[in-house]
Amino acid sequence: MNEKEIVNIEDKIMANTFAKRDLVLTRGKGALVWDINNKEYIDCTGSYGVAVVGHCHPKVVEAVQKQVETLIACHASFYNDARSILLEKLIALAPKSMDRVFLSNSGAESVECALKLARKYSGKPEIIAMMGAFHGKTMGALSATWKQKYRAPFMPLVPGFKHVPPNNLEKLRAAVTDKTAAVLVEPVRGEGGILLNSDDFLPGVRELCDEKGVLMILDEVQTGFGRTGKVFACEHWNVVPDIMCSAKSIAGGLPMGATFAKEEVMAAFQRGEHSSTFSGNPLVCAAASAAIDVLVEEKLAERAENLGKYFKGKLDALAEKYNVVREVRGLGLMIGMETRFDVYNILIGCMDRGVLVLDAGRNVVRFLPPLVIEKEQIDKVVDTLDAVLEQENK
Ligand SMILES: Cc1ncc(COP(=O)(O)O)c(C=O)c1O
Repeated sequence: MNEKEIVNIEDKIMANTFAKRDLVLTRGKGALVWDINNKEYIDCTGSYGVAVVGHCHPKVVEAVQKQVETLIACHASFYNDARSILLEKLIALAPKSMDRVFLSNSGAESVECALKLARKYSGKPEIIAMMGAFHGKTMGALSATWKQKYRAPFMPLVPGFKHVPPNNLEKLRAAVTDKTAAVLVEPVRGEGGILLNSDDFLPGVRELCDEKGVLMILDEVQTGFGRTGKVFACEHWNVVPDIMCSAKSIAGGLPMGATFAKEEVMAAFQRGEHSSTFSGNPLVCAAASAAIDVLVEEKLAERAENLGKYFKGKLDALAEKYNVVREVRGLGLMIGMETRFDVYNILIGCMDRGVLVLDAGRNVVRFLPPLVIEKEQIDKVVDTLDAVLEQENK
């Protein structure tokens, strides 16, 4: 199939819900991807933050190949070796006391599980989320998501959700009622524009939740598995939530979500109250086990911390050089560059020059590269941005 045919088929048949880029990707290795014409790109999208161990990591490939010949499907109503191996690895990696896991297939599903669990455990209906938050687009997750563009066409959403400004413990305190089940927070707002909370916010939320007897849910879907320089971002503030959502990068590129909870909290679910046909699929579990081994053996969280500082330093230098860059911010290899104009031309200018970057809102360029990215590749990304900004500055 040629490039044009592929584009035509996707445009004709696929639900028209994605803002597509004019690029057919066919191969990936580490931090690189190639298009159908064999043009190479440095992938700072990491497939929207999924590829932390890099594309097609040999250990993930080997684990998938082995498992695919052994057992592909095994419903969670049966026990399975690949699944049990993964579960132990997940618990070893998770913050202390996050001893139970529900496995699913996506970030939104991991949030859905958290929302149901919070209501079931507390017997209360209300969830407080943050203005500017993104938690996914299924009905429950969407009800916690802030952006009106995503919400408005689908009203009425799930009742019982309210939003408060982030970094404002007083407003949060005022919003908690005797009907509040949980407070839901992202450690760093990714889709919202790589927005960091003030250092006292998450510890303050934890304290408030303890005081009021309300559950704290952390959405680590984008920040988890090494991205921010710690395995989970909550470690930066020594905060342990009651429920933690994760997905994206768990399984080396395969789809998986995981909702962690304290033993006592997860115990609220009775048999049959939450399930999914693909929950703990052996093929995905084998991939996830291999990806976790890579994360640990290659010390990728540490690497994200060091390379993140290096990358951010170089972007800060660009901000000095170009007035159009308003701010560079981030944690580890989760970095945003806010500009004074729409970033579309930067995205396209970079793509033309062999670098893929993401947006986060209208005026933030977002970088979520694989954590295996090399320093020289970061240099190339920054040189490319320099050239694009130079042109945009004219
Ligand atoms: C913080 C956060 N939560 C939830 C989601 C939803 O994940 P998914 O797209 O896998 O449903 C995302 C996706 O970007 C996210 O960044």
